[in-house]
Amino acid sequence: MATIPKREIRRAGLPISVLGFGAASVGNLYRPVTDEDARATLLAAMDAGLTYVDTAPRYGHGLSERRVGDVLRGRDGVVLSTKVGRLLTPVPGLKGDGERHGFRSPMPFEQLYDYSHDGILRSYEDSLQRLGLAHIDILYVHDIGPMTHGDDDARTFEQLTIGGGFRALERLRQSGAITAFGLGVNEWRICLRAMEHVDLDVVLLAGRYTLLEQTALESFLPAALARQVSVVVGGAYNSGILATGVRGPGPHYYDYGEAPPEVVERVRRLEALAERHETPLAAAALSFCLAHPAVVSVIPGLGSVERVKKTLDLYDTPIPAAFWAELRAENLIDPRAPLPGDEA
Ligand SMILES: NC(=O)c1ccc[n+]([C@@H]2O[C@H](COP(=O)([O-])OP(=O)(O)OC[C@H]3O[C@@H](n4cnc5c(N)ncnc54)[C@H](OP(=O)(O)O)[C@@H]3O)[C@@H](O)[C@H]2O)c1
Repeated sequence: MATIPKREIRRAGLPISVLGFGAASVGNLYRPVTDEDARATLLAAMDAGLTYVDTAPRYGHGLSERRVGDVLRGRDGVVLSTKVGRLLTPVPGLKGDGERHGFRSPMPFEQLYDYSHDGILRSYEDSLQRLGLAHIDILYVHDIGPMTHGDDDARTFEQLTIGGGFRALERLRQSGAITAFGLGVNEWRICLRAMEHVDLDVVLLAGRYTLLEQTALESFLPAALARQVSVVVGGAYNSGILATGVRGPGPHYYDYGEAPPEVVERVRRLEALAERHETPLAAAALSFCLAHPAVVSVIPGLGSVERVKKTLDLYDTPIPAAFWAELRAENLIDPRAPLPGDEA
């Protein structure tokens, strides 16, 4: 296997591997993972050269952070991001691992949004304790914006601006407590809004720059390039459909739910094209994101050692230039999207 290259989060001078580890899965996203399997999965990924791990308090109500921290403790050379904006509050008497907010975790906590100055600092300090680590490299403001907050969007955003949330992050960065900060979101307009108020180093954008959807090209990605804001791509399979394709019986998952017919049809065309070029659709989905010059890493969710191996195989799969040429010729992609090989 080839070594996995690194790209730099430019404003922070922080190199991360282009293939990273999305640790929502080891917080028991949709299904339980044992402690042993979570540990083995993280170790397999790191041994293979994935030197960037992304977690969050939300992932398993603290479970993902605990598991990630236990593996990273005492280990050098791995860059860690976690998130701020949700505090975990205890729920006495809560037992079992029934699904809550998508996670099958027994951690007895509920999540409380708080993007204020003190809320951000408390979230950061709580994460240090759960991780059992003395340093966090990157903090993302998690799920700010109307997609999550609806009518409460203005108030929650003001917690960051007037309420000092951004100021708290700037202080943490200035003091060296963290190396970089940004947003971790499923929408891109909020990133432009945030960039009017604060210098972000990096944005984790999930689902909005994929083989299926390139709306981030309209204005966010050009703005990120112009301001040297690095971009990490999450949800590169749009919740699964770009990994599984649509040949099977379904349900086909797209953006945290069942895919609408027009999405299924578009994936059907992508899948047919991939098949003509003997290319796994999931390999093209990973490779596509990394062709954009603002993108520094793509972070699939990895919930088992087998999934790590499969993902490494996908990453290593050569994709014929003719696949990319036909993708463009058939208008299956925004014509402005840079493709692998364009620069050659
Ligand atoms: N707001 C935010 O900051 C935000 C939002 C979303 C994501 N993220 C980050 O991005 C990471 C990845 O996001 P994600 O887990 O939503 O999306 P993803 O990696 O695109 O995976 C979504 C689904 O694809 C399936 N899948 C992946 N590889 C596959 C393969 N080779 N074959 C078949 N199915 C496959 C997985 O199925 P299985 O269940 O079988 O594994 C999973 O359910 C997260 O862990 C998190 O770190 C951040």
